[in-house]
Amino acid sequence: MTEEITLVIHGVESSEEIPGIAQIKGHAHIHCAPDLETLQCYLPSAEALLGWNFRATELRQAWPLADRLRWIQWGGAGVDAVLFPELVASDVLLTNARGVFDRAMAEYTLALILAFGKELPETCAAQREHRWSYRWTELAAGRSVLVVGVGSIGREIARVLKRMDFVVSGVGRSARDFDPDFGQVHAVGDLDRCLGETDYVVLVTPLTPQTRGFFGAPQFSAMKSSARFINLGRGELVDETALLEALKDNSIAGAGLDVFCTEPLPAESPFWDLDNVIVSPHMSGDFQGHKEAMAEIFLENFERFRNGRELLNLIDKSLGFART
Ligand code: OXD
Repeated sequence: MTEEITLVIHGVESSEEIPGIAQIKGHAHIHCAPDLETLQCYLPSAEALLGWNFRATELRQAWPLADRLRWIQWGGAGVDAVLFPELVASDVLLTNARGVFDRAMAEYTLALILAFGKELPETCAAQREHRWSYRWTELAAGRSVLVVGVGSIGREIARVLKRMDFVVSGVGRSARDFDPDFGQVHAVGDLDRCLGETDYVVLVTPLTPQTRGFFGAPQFSAMKSSARFINLGRGELVDETALLEALKDNSIAGAGLDVFCTEPLPAESPFWDLDNVIVSPHMSGDFQGHKEAMAEIFLENFERFRNGRELLNLIDKSLGFART
């Protein structure tokens, strides 16, 4: 019989919040650490940590106590909350929930693009005013979409949009012409040139020290005035002041924003009141059933960890995302 693994689940009051956790009860000694204090209490004995809240940042403060820790499963696609230098430099393995959110985010991207093109916000506003507002709207087919970030989320966005006859290309670390999902992937160094040729820009790149503030005034002014910007990645990828300027002076046509530097978006934020913006509360990837899907990856990885097998969704900590 193998020994029980000491597991800390950070971000929950009770392990019952993790669907299917009963499956590992005979193999794990589980502690729940909803806050920093409990994390500091249980971390010294932990060999594995499940971070259930992808936003939680307490681990860094508790890190000096992580003497026995060998593996962290992070409950999100983005691992930016735990990409602190001490963890990056350590031997602790970091895995994420890659794949879980791809389809939902692709559908959400499609929904935003169609909402803009078919003017659904204007139609809903007119309905509220009992106003018959007949218009001609854009045809989606043939519109160009530049997906910035060619990981699994970006790829699913490309696959879904291509089925709807959008002309999709990607921006990644290096250029290539025959990518199976994008066809053409442009190198990040060519971003500004590509921005001037596209109808929709979709930002889904991970937040790392290299991508923080990636989109600023030069990028928004490189975009066409008819183009729309969609950010489903992280608020910090964008200089929000520059984005606001671009939206207010119509140097871009609109934005679909699911993520912000400060979340929840403060009630006084000007983004709420711009007619050319669709604001949503960081929900593009969260479908009914996503917690179960996240738990499934954790349970599979737990089994692998216990048996000394290779883990799924291993993050290259120097890059801040999974390589494949
Ligand atoms: C994530 C998210 O999982 O943004 O990273 O929801």
